[in-house]
Amino acid sequence: MDPLTTSLVKSSFKSIGATHGGENTFARSFYTFLFAAHPEIRQYFPAAMDLQRDRLMRAVGYVVERLDTPDTVLPLLAQLGRDHRKYDITDDHYEAVGEALITVLAGLAGPELWTDETAHAWHNAVALIVTTMTEAARGEPGPPTWVGTVLDHRRVLDDLAIVRLELDQPMPYAPGQYVSVQVPGRPRMWRYLSFATPPGPDRMVEFHVRRVSGGWVSPAIIGETRVGDTWLLGSPLGGLGVWQNPERSRLMIAEGTGIAPLRAQLMTMPRLFEHPRTHLFIGGTYPYDLYDLDLLWALSRTSPWLTVVPVSENNQSPWWFRGTSDIPAGMHDRLPGQLGRVVAEYADWTDHDIQVVGSPSVVRTTKYRLMAAGVDSDDIHHDPLY
Ligand SMILES: Cc1cc2nc3c(=O)[nH]c(=O)nc-3n(C[C@H](O)[C@H](O)[C@H](O)COP(=O)(O)OP(=O)(O)OC[C@H]3O[C@@H](n4cnc5c(N)ncnc54)[C@H](O)[C@@H]3O)c2cc1C
Ligand code: HEM
Repeated sequence: MDPLTTSLVKSSFKSIGATHGGENTFARSFYTFLFAAHPEIRQYFPAAMDLQRDRLMRAVGYVVERLDTPDTVLPLLAQLGRDHRKYDITDDHYEAVGEALITVLAGLAGPELWTDETAHAWHNAVALIVTTMTEAARGEPGPPTWVGTVLDHRRVLDDLAIVRLELDQPMPYAPGQYVSVQVPGRPRMWRYLSFATPPGPDRMVEFHVRRVSGGWVSPAIIGETRVGDTWLLGSPLGGLGVWQNPERSRLMIAEGTGIAPLRAQLMTMPRLFEHPRTHLFIGGTYPYDLYDLDLLWALSRTSPWLTVVPVSENNQSPWWFRGTSDIPAGMHDRLPGQLGRVVAEYADWTDHDIQVVGSPSVVRTTKYRLMAAGVDSDDIHHDPLY
């Protein structure tokens, strides 16, 4: 897309957001218009449409912001298009969504802002989004969904379970990627989960799931999953595991179940040719949150290039915790404090490739701490749709 089109789309989107109170007004108007104009589309969306976690609108905002960096945006849209095959939607649906986006934007912008040039620029942008998604979907030879049968559901903490499933067919995912899953009893409520192990010949996948209190799906996964249940999985997503420079030193930072996509990558590294120096910081609120230390310790003992540093905000487990939260003998002592602060103060991380995985607030604060310590934001990688 040419620079004039890109700048018209970005600036009008910003002005509309500033005048109309941001994403929520846009999202509300978009869905009201879409479902009124195309009632048949409503059935694809979950009954409870929580605007706060509206991911479609957030994706549009993300794409618009980065239209001038097609290398970032086009692969993301292609992945989304391949994954959207799970909804069993058609090109007509894409046309309806594109038309709704433009109609609602034009209405919110008003005639002064929505000039012929701006309208033309938006038509081009929406066409680019829709074409990239639909062409990627059409060109994908793999299935639109995989069926996973639960083999094991291990409750490692009161609010955290490790679930292992066997897929009906091999899934070609890369360590560091995630996937959209739909579990029994929660129709149309797809949620992302990160693969905690690299792909193997046995079609086995593992997820680590933490309960979000008040959530629709995670409490059901923790409390209601049974061996033999079948889950649906979409196409693999994300590019976290793609390192810019395979020889550069690495810093990996995980909070809670954020360890899943990092351990999946670490588990494959011993088999690789290059072994860049890697520091892994794993953080939690309490010592017991560091539930995966045994495996990480075992990995670091056989991998001289890997240092694992546990961090917890509170040094003692709460009085009601009855399990064990010991550090494996010989491992780096647990450092006390807030994860982002501990990492930023630990060493000079400039000249490292960095991955941060965890809840949106931890990703934000850690990124902020690292940048304040002189790290270039281009060196910090995290999931784009947070
Ligand atoms: C790329 C990616 C990978 C992910 N991988 C994993 C994973 O491996 N394991 C895992 O357990 N989860 C993972 N998640 C989070 C997961 O997809 C769900 O968002 C989470 O399980 C909550 O779903 P829910 O249906 O229970 O809550 P919802 O019904 O979706 O949300 C309920 C409320 O909780 C808030 N909320 C949602 N998620 C969080 C959160 N993480 N922290 C605080 N508040 C939240 C929402 O804003 C909402 O207000 C991942 C998310 C992304 C974007
Ligand atoms: C214009 C291009 C589109 C973009 C950029 C886009 C983007 C997204 C994103 C990022 C998500 C969240 C992740 C996911 O579940 O896959 C999502 C969810 C969804 N999309 Fe799309 N989408 C587009 C078009 C469509 C179309 C044409 C339909 C057809 C009905 C559709 C239906 C859905 C549904 C049902 C969800 C789940 C919503 C939820 O769980 O709250 N999308 N979309």
